[in-house]
Amino acid sequence: MSVASGTTHIFMNFLRKATPSMSQIALMDCAPRSSDFRHDLLAGLSQSPKTLPCKYLYDERGSQLFELICELEEYYPTRAEISILQNYGAEIADALGSDCAVIEYGSGSGLKTEILLEHLHAPNVYFPVDISREHLCSSAAALEEKCPDIDIVPVCADFTRDFELPDSLVNGSRRAAYFSGSTIGNFEVGESIEILQGMARLCGRDGCLLIGVDLQKDPAVLEAAYDDSEGVTRQFNQNLLHRANAELDADFDVEQFQHRAIYNPQHARIEMHLESSCDQQVTVAGQKINFAAGETIHTENSHKHTLESFANIAARAGWQVKTVWTDDRQYFSVQYLTVTT
Ligand code: AVI
Repeated sequence: MSVASGTTHIFMNFLRKATPSMSQIALMDCAPRSSDFRHDLLAGLSQSPKTLPCKYLYDERGSQLFELICELEEYYPTRAEISILQNYGAEIADALGSDCAVIEYGSGSGLKTEILLEHLHAPNVYFPVDISREHLCSSAAALEEKCPDIDIVPVCADFTRDFELPDSLVNGSRRAAYFSGSTIGNFEVGESIEILQGMARLCGRDGCLLIGVDLQKDPAVLEAAYDDSEGVTRQFNQNLLHRANAELDADFDVEQFQHRAIYNPQHARIEMHLESSCDQQVTVAGQKINFAAGETIHTENSHKHTLESFANIAARAGWQVKTVWTDDRQYFSVQYLTVTT
């Protein structure tokens, strides 16, 4: 089946028995374009300042390290968001209504998804959307064991681009997008607006959005959250260089690149960098790249919002914030929005 979606034509395949552990689950494959690590790394390292898209932090090892980050004492967002879902699950369920179709952007939030689905009033179907087929299949299979009464349809797609869900699978249910973890903060404002606009298009007039949004706070709290005392975030950041060495025949001396996590008040964001300890030359995919001592590769941004700044971004994307729930310390928010356009 071929589906026209904006300017993109997407081929969807329904794959039964995608893995032995998923005997009952059909995967909807929107054939996302694969990323080109080699191209993006060489392009990013030829810029000034040097940079690299943060999506490359999440190979298998990076994803494992991110799961460990979520358990760290200093990394408050996961615990704060879980506490909000637990404390306000009933109100959230009333806002989304009964029989809704939940469309989760990114399928990596395990426990949060379970808590949400357990609270909702008889959700009709759950669509986890993720670019990684393996991750999607394994997390859907794990969820099916825990929530056997909910229909799960994993969707392999790049959610930064348009994709579609056939009406036959949604069955006329209200479409509720779910985007947890404040992952929206990892995008620039313009990109965030495009993603939120895509969600509004997918959810339609009656649609709604439940989104985790991290809030501005004491920079010392933020910097500790992104530079933890156990060095897990350091390993997560440096893993990019290990990945380049393994996949692109690069020769980064990883210990000569220090993890830096700095709050940039002008842009209200935590920036992660890898800072060269000395003047050095590195070979990446046959190309020589020079680093001066103190020069950095900018590897990630994590934007922090006020309630006003996020409401403003949402409004520009066709959404209206209806309800905001926060944790005790007001570090983090879960917000319920409806479509305005
Ligand atoms: C995935 N994302 C929401 C995390 C964040 O907080 O921006 C990524 C992360 N980077 C370092 N620690 C966590």
